[in-house]
Formats: sequence, C-alpha cells, structure tokens
Amino acid sequence: MPRKCIVCGKDSVVFIPYARAAFCREHFISFYERRILKTLKKAKFDGGRVLVGVSGGKDSMALIYALNRLSGELNIDIFTVHIDLGIYDYSKVSREIVENEMSRIGVKYEIVNVRDYLGVTIPEAVKKVRRPACSVCGIVKRWILNKIAYDNSYEYIATGHNIDDVSTYFLKALFTQRVEDLMRGHDIITPPNLEYRMIGRIRPQVYLSERENQLYCIFNDIPFVKDVCPLARGALLHKYKRLWEDILQLNPIAQINLTKTIMKLREKIPQEKVDLQKCKICGFATTSKDGICAFCKLKLRIAEER
Ligand code: AMP
Ligand code: FES
Ligand code: ZN
Ligand code: ZN
Repeated sequence: MPRKCIVCGKDSVVFIPYARAAFCREHFISFYERRILKTLKKAKFDGGRVLVGVSGGKDSMALIYALNRLSGELNIDIFTVHIDLGIYDYSKVSREIVENEMSRIGVKYEIVNVRDYLGVTIPEAVKKVRRPACSVCGIVKRWILNKIAYDNSYEYIATGHNIDDVSTYFLKALFTQRVEDLMRGHDIITPPNLEYRMIGRIRPQVYLSERENQLYCIFNDIPFVKDVCPLARGALLHKYKRLWEDILQLNPIAQINLTKTIMKLREKIPQEKVDLQKCKICGFATTSKDGICAFCKLKLRIAEER
C-alpha cells in the first residue's frame, strides 16, 4: 500500500524521512518551495537584485526555477550567469541546457567564457598549476561571479549549495581539525561588503538535499546535466559525502542537525576578525598576507608556465 500524501490524501510519490512526510507530486513541489521561502525569510533576507550562478546541474537548475517562481514573494529581480569552463563535452552539454531552459522559462541570462577572464580553460589551468581541479575551479568561479555581480550592481549572488555539500564540508573540517573552515562560510546569507567590492551571498538550498533538488527537477520537467564533472571524479569530498548514506539510515535528520549545531556554536563563539585587503592586481577583496588574491595568483602561475 503506498503511503498517502499528508496534505491531500492522494497516493504519494515521495517520502521525505526527516520531515516524516509523504507527498504527491504537487504537494512535494509546494513543500520544496515553502522550504526555500522559510529558509530565506528566517535568515532575514529582504530581497534585491540577485545574480544566480547556474551550472546546469540539478541543484542550480532547481534553484533558478524555484527562485523564478518565488520572485514576487521574495521581492527579487533575478539574472542568471553560466560560466563555460571549457571542460570538454561536459561544458558543452551544460551550456546548452542552461541556454535552452532559461529561454524557455523567460529568465534573463548571460553565458560567459572562462577563457575571457583567465586566459585558459579549466583543464588547461589544472594541467599548468598541478593543483586539485575543484579547488582551481572554485577560485575561478567565485571570482568571475563576484566580478560580474559587482560590475552590474547586483546585491546578492545565489548559489545551489545543498545540505549534502554543507554538512560534508563541516564533517571533513571536523575530521581534519580545520577549525577555520568550521568558523566561516556556508551561511544562508552573507551580507555585501561593498567597500571591498564583495557582493552578498544567499544559499537558499542549505536545508534541501541533492535528492530533493533532483525530485523537484523531475516533477517539474526541468532538464539538468546528469554526468558528473570529469575533473572532479574521485575527489576526496565525494568520498566523505558517501559516509552520510549509513549515518542517515540511522538518523534521517543527522545532516540538518550537524549543520544547525555548528551554526549555533558559531553564534556563541566570538568570530576572529579577518584582515581584508584590496587585491593589488584586480582590486577585489583578499585575506592573503601578500595582498594578491587567489585568482590573480593563479593567473600569475599560469603565465609563468607558458
Ligand atoms: P560547485 O563549486 O561546483 O559546488 O558549485 C557551487 C555553486 O556555484 C553551484 O551551486 C552554482 O550555483 C554555482 N556554479 C557552479 N558551476 C557554475 C558555472 N559553470 N556557472 C555558473 N555558476 C556555477
Ligand atoms: Fe569545477 Fe569540475 S566543475 S572542477
Ligand atoms: Zn497531495
Ligand atoms: Zn586579484
């Protein structure tokens, strides 16, 4: 016997263990959207001009779709940017999906090429600097999104970080004594700091899982890139992520609890002041002692290797 939707009593299509609730398609979609709304309202987000970074994967495709639907209630004006990272077919497919879907749902968008900012593609950069692909790629994406948002007067950048990403980041930090990683980053809202040209951040899916994002895409017929990035295969973070499978069997709310516990601890512990400076080369914020940001350092390393 299938369980019944807790809202309308029809046969359900999904069971959400942490909510101990089954939903039909329609009521899962409203549960999902309410969760985004509640997360942002609770974090006191009051709207504005929001640039949404969309990779074409399930998380950010679900994000742009939900934010578009909720734009009235959230009082936001949204714009999408997709960065073509030059990662072979993976980037071609991702770009196509974003272009087609943004035109279909009528969201303003721009596709930019990583080469125009970095001079090379991500695979070329990784080969030259011999560092883990995801860390190189992360530095580049953050810098480009911040620059585009700054140049176009956006107040916030929205990203598709989900509970699997955030809880795994914290788990890894706990297992490796990275106290500084526990103390900063991954807030639902990070206010802008325009003196240092830092655009604010919102992470509306912090309390939603990859599975929920995928279901939201499927139930709304939203296409998304199914392949994983070929450069990220075998990344350590993915191995840590798999540890959750067993933990969640034992306690379905463990990821949410771990994340909330750390967020609450942070509020009790006075934060160390970070020394921000303006990068000597690009003028955007950096905490680096030598006053050159991670993105500009990467560019310098790439130039040396030519
Ligand atoms: P990741 O570093 O791949 O976990 O991505 C984090 C977030 O950055 C995603 O949820 C997206 O919002 C955004 N993002 C990732 N890749 C891209 C891309 N190619 N273009 C624009 N935004 C992206
Ligand atoms: Fe960044 Fe694969 S998308 S390394
Ligand atoms: Zn229902
Ligand atoms: Zn710089």
